[in-house]
Amino acid sequence: AYIITEPCIDVKDGACTAACPVDCIYEGGRMFYIHPDECINCGLCLSICPVDAIAYDEEANEAQMAFIPVNRDYFGAD
Ligand code: SF4
Ligand code: F3S
Repeated sequence: AYIITEPCIDVKDGACTAACPVDCIYEGGRMFYIHPDECINCGLCLSICPVDAIAYDEEANEAQMAFIPVNRDYFGAD
């Protein structure tokens, strides 16, 4: 699944939500989160984010990888 990472914090541009065809990007507190079980991996949100906060989990760098459980835990998914 795609994930939202650190640059989104306190920026929350929101453009990604309009790009997502399945509405799986949710606003929560200081950032937005992608529901890992609802994301269809279409990639449409990736280049829309002005601060480059979105990444594909399987291609995430180390800093981005820390946000895989952050996105997952937000929804209480297992
Ligand atoms: Fe939505 Fe597609 Fe981005 Fe997943 S990859 S969050 S389905 S726009
Ligand atoms: Fe955040 Fe970028 Fe979306 S700042 S809300 S991930 S467009």
